[in-house]
Amino acid sequence: MGEKVKLEFGGKPSEYPVLSGTVGPDVIDIRKLYGATGAFTYDPGFTSTASCQSALTYIDGDAGVLLHRGYPIDQLAERSSFMEVAYLLLNGELPAKANLEAFSRTITRHTMVHEQLASFYAGFRRDAHPMAIMCGVVGALSAFYPDSTDINDPKQRMISAHRLIAKMPTIAAMAYKYSIGQPFLYPRNDLSYTGNFLRMTFGVPAEEYEIDPVVEAAMDKIFILHADHEQNASTSTVRLAGSSGANPFACIAAGIACLWGPAHGGANEAALNMLREIGTPDRIPEYIARAKNKDDPFRLMGFGHRVYKNYDPRATVLAKAATEVLDKLGISDPVLDTARELERIALTDPYFIDKKLYPNVDFYSGVILSAIGFPTTMFTVLFALARTVGWVSQWIEMISDPEQKIGRPRQLYMGPAQRDYIDLANR
Ligand code: CMC
Repeated sequence: MGEKVKLEFGGKPSEYPVLSGTVGPDVIDIRKLYGATGAFTYDPGFTSTASCQSALTYIDGDAGVLLHRGYPIDQLAERSSFMEVAYLLLNGELPAKANLEAFSRTITRHTMVHEQLASFYAGFRRDAHPMAIMCGVVGALSAFYPDSTDINDPKQRMISAHRLIAKMPTIAAMAYKYSIGQPFLYPRNDLSYTGNFLRMTFGVPAEEYEIDPVVEAAMDKIFILHADHEQNASTSTVRLAGSSGANPFACIAAGIACLWGPAHGGANEAALNMLREIGTPDRIPEYIARAKNKDDPFRLMGFGHRVYKNYDPRATVLAKAATEVLDKLGISDPVLDTARELERIALTDPYFIDKKLYPNVDFYSGVILSAIGFPTTMFTVLFALARTVGWVSQWIEMISDPEQKIGRPRQLYMGPAQRDYIDLANR
C-alpha cells in the first residue's frame, strides 16, 4: 500500500492516496474528498492543483528544467527540427528517418486551406489584430473539415491534428498578408515546414523568394521552443473546452483566445513594445522603479513565470540565438542592448532576486522576430502556430485517457443566500 494522507474534518476521519509521477512532486488524490467530507478544496489560479495525468512535458521550475517526452529542451532546440518535435509530442518517441519523412509528407499534404476560407479575411478590417483573425478563422475550420470532427474515432483525431499543424502556417501567413494588402501565397510542398511559412509570409507572387537558411533555422528553433509547455493557461483552456466533447478546431480556437492575453502569449508583443519604449539603457532604472512600485500596475514584460523560479530554459536558448541571428544577419538593434542591460540590472536587484523573477521565453523572442521582419502584432500568432502542436497532442492525450471527465470546477459561493423576489413596485 502506498502512502496515505489522513484528514479529519467535521470530526470525521478520511484518507487520501498519494500518487507518484515518474519525476516531480507527489500528488494527493482528493477525488473522494467531497464524498467523504462534503467540502471542496479552494485553489484560485490552480497553484496547487494537478488537473490531469500527462506524459508529454515535464517542468522543474526551481531547477529551470523543461523536458518533452523526457528530452531536454536545449538538446531539442540545438539538434532537432520542429517537425521532429511535433512528431515526438504527438507520438511519444523521436521519429526514425523514414517516420520523419512520412510525417513531414503528411503535414505538407495538408497545408492548403479550403479556397472559401480566404473570403473570411475580407470580412475583417485591414488593421484588425492578427490574433483576432486567428480566433475567427481557426474556429471556422470545423465548418470546412467536418469529416475529421468525430472525437471518438482515433483516426479522425489524428487527421484533425495533422490538419491543424499543417494549416496553421497558411492561416497565419494569410493574416499577415491581409494586414499589408498583399495577395495570399499558396503553400509549396517542396519546402520545409518553416521555409514554406517564411515564403508564404514574406514572398510575393511576382518573384521567387529565396529562403535565408539563417532565418529558417532561427524560426524553426523558435517554433521548437514554443511547441508545448505542460498545463499552462491556454493548454488548460484547450483541455477544458475539449472535455465537453467539443471538436478539436473549436478547442484550438479557444486556446488561441486564451494565449492572446498579455500575461501569457501576448507577453512577447508587450515585451518588445516595452523594450522599444525604454529605448536606451539609461532609462532602465525608471522602468525598474515602476515595476517595483506596488501602486503602479506596470510589470516588466517577459519577466517572471508561474512555474519557473529560475531562468526559463527557453530564454537561455533564445538569448544566445538573438545574438547569433543579429550577428549573422548583420543587424545591430539597440533593443538587444537594452534587453541585455535590463536583464543584468533586474537580476542584481533584490526585488527581482527575492521574488525569483527571471527572463522568460518572451523576453528575447521578440528581438529575433523583429530582426526577421515580423511586426509585433504577429508575435503571438507565431506562438500560437507553434503551440498548436502541444495543444493537439494534449487534446489527443486527454480524449484517450479513460479517466477523462468533463472539467467542472466548483466554487466558494459568497453571494446572497436564498431570498424572496420583491415586486418592482415595492423596491
Ligand atoms: N514585473 C514586476 N513584478 C512582477 C512581475 C513582473 N514581470 N511578475 C511578477 N511580479 C511580482 C508580483 O507583483 C508579485 O509581487 P507580490 O508578491 O509583492 O504581490 C510577485 O512577483 C508574484 O507575482 P504573481 O503575479 O503572483 O505570480 P504569478 O505566478 O501569478 O504570475 C506571470 C506569473 C507570468 C503572470 C507574471 O510573472 C507576469 O505577469 N509576468 C509578465 C508577463 C509575462 O512575461 N508573461 C509571460 C509568461 S511566459 C510565456 C507564457 O506563459 O505565455
